[in-house]
Amino acid sequence: MNYRHAFHAGGFADVAKHAALALLVERLRDKPKPFCVLDTHAGLGEYDLLADAATRTGEWRDGIARLFGRTDAPDAMGAYLRAVRALNPDGSLRWYPGSPRLVRDLLRPGDRLVANELHPADAETLRRTFAREPGVEIAEGDGYTALKAKLPPAERRGLAFVDPPFERKDEFAALARALRQGHRRFATGTFVAWYPVKGRAPVDAFLSEMADGRIRRVGVAEFMRFPPDDDRRLNGSGLLTVNAPWKFEERLREAWEWCGAALGIEGGIRIETLVGE
Ligand SMILES: C[S@@+](CC[C@H](N)C(=O)[O-])C[C@H]1O[C@@H](n2cnc3c(N)ncnc32)[C@H](O)[C@@H]1O
Repeated sequence: MNYRHAFHAGGFADVAKHAALALLVERLRDKPKPFCVLDTHAGLGEYDLLADAATRTGEWRDGIARLFGRTDAPDAMGAYLRAVRALNPDGSLRWYPGSPRLVRDLLRPGDRLVANELHPADAETLRRTFAREPGVEIAEGDGYTALKAKLPPAERRGLAFVDPPFERKDEFAALARALRQGHRRFATGTFVAWYPVKGRAPVDAFLSEMADGRIRRVGVAEFMRFPPDDDRRLNGSGLLTVNAPWKFEERLREAWEWCGAALGIEGGIRIETLVGE
């Protein structure tokens, strides 16, 4: 368990995944019924971009730093950028919201977040960070186990965000298995799983497995910083969705096209339906 997200916080992959996550949670607020978000691989919750880890890679300088001061963002980027700005009220960028902070900011009274993390020190940080905030449960353990144990939520309405570190060689296979198990338990829920695009082959194998028809309403979205011609680097940020809400693809395209232009991406954007109704 070596992966530390602090090195990558606020980079292009985070920008793409968090903009999408904010759009999904925003849609859940369209109806008054309470919802629950399960964040299976939650990380730290908040990241100091001026601390050693983030400074060493500087990934955020080619990510959130290029968007933070912009005043021309489309409406589809609104919830995400508001969450980043809320953590930096003096207007200079230092703190970056990980998925638990982003989701927490979008909850209404009565909605819930379950943030699960395996790393004990990170789980402890999460407990401290959210100690005084109602509606947040911190769980410590394996994320794929949480996807079974915590679903379906009592609210019977909500979203599971699955953002593994991709340290295991069999992570794509484990992810596909866990998504199927989670979906069996909560077939009406929305699922969104992040994956890295390095070379195409493992990604395409994963996507064809997820397109086998066992789960319907599957979507794929890839934000490609570079074309996938060098599989030693992270070329793109990928998302597999299940039961994404109406108009999500349209809203995501609006958000990502603006981000893509702002970040000067070279590999383009792919947003499509993998399995229909
Ligand atoms: C990509 S990071 C998560 C980032 C976070 N979701 C965000 O968007 O801000 C992956 C996280 O998974 C944690 N992790 C590693 N193995 C895990 C496992 N088996 N179950 C749950 N979490 C795990 C790592 O400690 C790391 O914090």
